[in-house]
Amino acid sequence: MDLIRTAVVVVLIIGLGTGVEVGAIQYNFYEKSCPQLENIVRTALVPIFLTDPTTPAALLRLMFHDCQVQGCDASILVDPVEENLSSEMASRKNFGIRKRGLISMLKSLVEAACPEQVSCADILILAAREAVAISEGPHIKVPLGRRDSSIAPSYELADALIPPAAAGVDDMLRIFAGKGMTIEESVAIMGAHTLGITHCLNILNRLYEQEGDQHQRMEPKFEALLRSICPKVSSTSNSSFVLNDPTTLVFDNHYYKNAMGGRGVLRIDAEMVSDPRTAPIAQHFATDRDDFFLAFSTAFVKLSTSGVLTGDQGVIRKRCNVVD
Ligand code: HEM
Ligand SMILES: *[C@@H]1O[C@H](CO)[C@@H](O)[C@H](O)[C@H]1NC(C)=O
Ligand SMILES: *[C@@H]1O[C@H](CO)[C@@H](O)[C@H](O)[C@H]1NC(C)=O
Repeated sequence: MDLIRTAVVVVLIIGLGTGVEVGAIQYNFYEKSCPQLENIVRTALVPIFLTDPTTPAALLRLMFHDCQVQGCDASILVDPVEENLSSEMASRKNFGIRKRGLISMLKSLVEAACPEQVSCADILILAAREAVAISEGPHIKVPLGRRDSSIAPSYELADALIPPAAAGVDDMLRIFAGKGMTIEESVAIMGAHTLGITHCLNILNRLYEQEGDQHQRMEPKFEALLRSICPKVSSTSNSSFVLNDPTTLVFDNHYYKNAMGGRGVLRIDAEMVSDPRTAPIAQHFATDRDDFFLAFSTAFVKLSTSGVLTGDQGVIRKRCNVVD
């Protein structure tokens, strides 16, 4: 009897020691292996954010596009190599992605302090979290323990999985429901568009090919402004851009107010405030910043933990831009 009980206890302990603990994503994942990690990332980013205040927007979008293709595994950071020119960055959907090199720079600082412990995937999430916080957004606690992809991903996968610039509410809700988000969280994560810019290239169709219900009515003065910045025929559509929100450097709830006033830049921004499933929530966030911040924070954790590699899956890359 005692022997059986002891055996059961031993099995339980082994079970807890291997399968359950190892591999799970955890808030204190680097407590022993790299306690200074969050400080290193934060301290390095502050002067960079001051020098180029458009950096937070770039890092937040970088995180979304990494996580969108087979979970947040730093696959977007892999440079195309000569033998295999395939790379997520070759996808048209990654047009406008900036600041990938910054994660490699952070990685080298982290490697100097805690060699071969910390994944590029986790550093990217921490950088995106700092980007939100420094822009006066919520301070989000993020669980860690992601592993990096060990293969160079294909641009076809990025093409298939990253939503197009003309995506609407249906696409948006489907994508985020797949990550376990409620409709409220889905509307909240789109509040990321309170930061940053959109290149003319991405809105030419919306401005000049107003087909059927694709086009949500824009406030006429705003539409005229966008058309003057982004003429139909132009050689600079790849470099000229408009602001996603007049307070483009501040993480606030003006994105929702703006979209409700007919000044949403992308189709999704405009459609979200008119679709009966999402409009009441967007309206609420436009008046209640704290509720927006709360829902954004839980949505951010869901986006950044969905489908990630853990435990003995994947690798800890030594350099973020190459798979060795
Ligand atoms: C259906 C969902 C989404 C669509 C269709 C979409 C589409 C776009 C497009 C077309 C741009 C303009 C890029 C450019 O021209 O350079 C953009 C910018 C941006 N997006 Fe999204 N997005 C979506 C969801 C998200 C999510 C979930 C996040 C973050 C959590 C995000 C963060 C950003 C940021 C921060 C920018 C500005 C980037 C910069 O200034 O460089 N987006 N988005
Ligand atoms: C090269 O790219 C393909 C996708 O086109 C991918 O399946 C393959 O694993 C890559 N090879 C290497 C060595 O990373
Ligand atoms: C603009 O960007 C698109 C998408 O990446 C690309 O196909 C096109 O060649 C670029 N045009 C110019 C003029 O650089």
